[in-house]
Amino acid sequence: MKTSVGIGLLGLGVVGGGVARTLVERADHVRQLAGCKLSLEGVLVRDPSRPRSFDVPSSLVTTRVEDILDNPAVDVVVEVMGGQTPALDYIVKAISLDKHIVTANKEVMAKQGPDLLTLARKKGVQVMFEASVAGGTPIIGPLLRDLVSNEISSIHAIINGTTNYILTQMVHQGVGFDDALRAAQELGYAESDPTNDVEGIDAAYKLAILSTLAFRARIKDSDVYREGITRLDARDFLYARELGYTIKLLAIANMRDGVVEAHVHPAFVPSDVMLAKVEGVLNAVEVEADMVGRVLFTGPGAGAEPTASAVVADAIGIARNIVGNVTPPTPLRLSENVRVSPMSDLETKYYLRLNVDDRPGVFARIAKLLGDLDISIASVIQKETDEAAQRAEIVMMTHRAREAAMTNALGLLSELDVVNDVGNLVRVEEWE
Ligand SMILES: NC(=O)c1ccc[n+]([C@@H]2O[C@H](COP(=O)([O-])OP(=O)(O)OC[C@H]3O[C@@H](n4cnc5c(N)ncnc54)[C@H](OP(=O)(O)O)[C@@H]3O)[C@@H](O)[C@H]2O)c1
Repeated sequence: MKTSVGIGLLGLGVVGGGVARTLVERADHVRQLAGCKLSLEGVLVRDPSRPRSFDVPSSLVTTRVEDILDNPAVDVVVEVMGGQTPALDYIVKAISLDKHIVTANKEVMAKQGPDLLTLARKKGVQVMFEASVAGGTPIIGPLLRDLVSNEISSIHAIINGTTNYILTQMVHQGVGFDDALRAAQELGYAESDPTNDVEGIDAAYKLAILSTLAFRARIKDSDVYREGITRLDARDFLYARELGYTIKLLAIANMRDGVVEAHVHPAFVPSDVMLAKVEGVLNAVEVEADMVGRVLFTGPGAGAEPTASAVVADAIGIARNIVGNVTPPTPLRLSENVRVSPMSDLETKYYLRLNVDDRPGVFARIAKLLGDLDISIASVIQKETDEAAQRAEIVMMTHRAREAAMTNALGLLSELDVVNDVGNLVRVEEWE
């Protein structure tokens, strides 16, 4: 019987450092759970001279990936480098060499996950990726295993801690986007180039992974409509609160009659629903399914220890199978008959903030323009009249309307001579 399973670590940054530390400092605990030793056989980095949060013996550190992939003592390759290139090549090469994979890489899993799972099945190895969504909060395992008797109808998720921190600052401190981003960067919650987070790219990767698992259909990141949080203004948060909402960057996926819609964008969320209370860097995924109803998974979405918790658990699961000589379970079978609907087909409620001329008849013209497009107004508040400039701000909530109609309306509104500026449009999500 195998008494030791060899781990090759690709990356020794935030997550890799946490994984190495866990394997070394909790070695006895891990051995008991796995039924064998998990032995670190090699660590790939770019720059061996960089100071590390956890020092591994220098004899294990290499800049040559072959030292890990061609090492027969390595049974499991743990990829915690990030990015698509060269991580994807290394994973494919490792699988072809009969190595099992644990990865935290959402970009690779969103773009190539189903192909990698198929390749792994052919080679009789496992690809595990719990840490790729929501870091230390379990959600991949529950979707793959614990919820499989259900038909899942929707996912509502807050899966980017950086933007949730920024939005929480904007709600509680009343600050604008730029100040909130700066605070997040000072605390290390946002990178110096925050594009992937604030433009919703990171959340779209994760939603593609979750939707693929939940709906058992291949949903790629390019199938996910996305909008970031950079257009949100401190005033939108004031109005949201007045109307009984907060604003979150929501990742939403629904499945109805074989049609999936998947979108990431800021959304008004009623203040009394559970997701509205998920603040700071926390993540949360709410799954709605026919047997369990609604379940909420919430917890840390990042950080060395929480993410290493998920990565090492995956490695332990693989080691148990190796030791027990268990054939890995067949990964997902994906349906070919699911269609992804375009965003223009979405039907939702909207919040609309407009800067208009403050004179009689203006609102009637706006209401007629919207009415002609089948967009009916549920409520209106007129705000902040600037008498000297004869300008006013109008805030409207609509009933459910088609996205295509709303896109059309925005174009026509911006051409109206009485509308000075379309301040913002935010979709409103309701829970029954
Ligand atoms: N950070 C989190 O909390 C978190 C949470 C969930 C998932 N993840 C995912 O986990 C992965 C790793 O994230 P991280 O935050 O740990 O990243 P990180 O701190 O930037 O670390 C990346 C590591 O990979 C190494 N590396 C990168 N490119 C390489 C290359 N071409 N050749 C050799 N080594 C290379 C780097 O080497 P050097 O150190 O020598 O530069 C570094 O050690 C990403 O996929 C990320 O999305 C992260």
